[in-house]
Amino acid sequence: MQLVNERYSIQGIDILDLVKKYETPLYIYDSSVIKRQLDRLTNSFKVKNLGIHYACKALNNINILKLINQWGAGLDTVSIQEIWTGINAGFTPDKILYTPNCVGVDEIEMAIKLGVQINIDHIETLEYIGQHYPGVKLCIRINPHVMAGGNEKISVGHIDSKFGISIYQMPLVERLVKALNLNINGVHMHTGSDILDPGVFTFAADILFDIAKKFKDLEFIDFGSGLKVPYKEDDVCTDIEELGEILSEKFNSFCKEYGRDLKLYFEPGKFLVSESGYFIVKTNVIKQTPSTVFAGVDSGMNHLIRPMFYGSYHHIFNISNPHGKPRVYNIVGYICETDTFANNRVVNEIHPGDILCFKNAGAYCFSMSSNYNSRFRPCEVLIHEGKDYLIREREKLEDLFKNQIVAI
Ligand code: LLP
Repeated sequence: MQLVNERYSIQGIDILDLVKKYETPLYIYDSSVIKRQLDRLTNSFKVKNLGIHYACKALNNINILKLINQWGAGLDTVSIQEIWTGINAGFTPDKILYTPNCVGVDEIEMAIKLGVQINIDHIETLEYIGQHYPGVKLCIRINPHVMAGGNEKISVGHIDSKFGISIYQMPLVERLVKALNLNINGVHMHTGSDILDPGVFTFAADILFDIAKKFKDLEFIDFGSGLKVPYKEDDVCTDIEELGEILSEKFNSFCKEYGRDLKLYFEPGKFLVSESGYFIVKTNVIKQTPSTVFAGVDSGMNHLIRPMFYGSYHHIFNISNPHGKPRVYNIVGYICETDTFANNRVVNEIHPGDILCFKNAGAYCFSMSSNYNSRFRPCEVLIHEGKDYLIREREKLEDLFKNQIVAI
């Protein structure tokens, strides 16, 4: 987003014009940022075969998926519904990974029939699939027991996590693989999101390499994701170029030892889409209390839950008054609960009616939205090659009643 002569714009399109056209609250995505991030990631790795699979749980609008497909990446999915969405967007099943957790075997069977790459993180499920679908290619998700991730809720590779098969259970997995002649073509880990320290990646990677040696027919090793993007100016973020260099070297020497070139997979969500997104809201009220000045906006945690759920930071700025005097606000939503986007935040002076913008609104924002308080979900606009496209309508009253049955 650029600020020129008091006006903010994306790819030359004025944000306040978009607000007039689509109203607020409004999600805007800049496709050029997604492409930039995909290129950065691709160029950071010096290996023969790199596979980037976009974790579409981060932002699942079909238009975003179509672009990512056009740009040659694959898809990482966690539910049969995400697989269907991916196929709908044009991904062929061989470009789709499916990494479910705690789902029933019936769903995994549906995925097998669709021909996507299955990734299993449960020993009994592995046994069932091995017995009923002999020969099907299976990846195993390992839990390497490392503590990684920006906060407790998004750390998933530690010993108390429900994800993955523990490294301590590998002897059992090996016995199963032998007994059922399982076709293990990949090993996988994902230790968390917003990982602050790149050393954690390489530490866990060594554990994964050790396990990979136990399987002779591998085609790929999947390092999951957790790449951290900046939320604030000068924020810690993953130095992807450095990580690419270190991991490529480790990977290439592993392949030499293994005797074959394998594919290196990554499954980024945030890294690709977080910075592409902006959430635009209108200030309804400025409310002065004895202790605080609140700026109350026409949205809430129903549209963007990350601050309330994880304590996440989203930079917020005043599009209507870019050079106003900086003042301190608690920026809050209209939901009938404590509904805080930011505490004691310095923003250029806000007046009722002013348009505020939240940064890093591409990942896990719209996709985690809800109708709480019977509010409509916002519309989504994509800016692509200098044009704006409405890619999801704002919800209407009919949408709230859609699946309700008046039974009495
Ligand atoms: N692969 C697997 C198996 C995952 O579970 C995830 C994210 C990813 C890849 C992508 O991770 P990323 O690149 O986005 O860090 N809602 C939380 C994040 C939850 C992440 C869930 N799994 C947030 O808003 O911070």
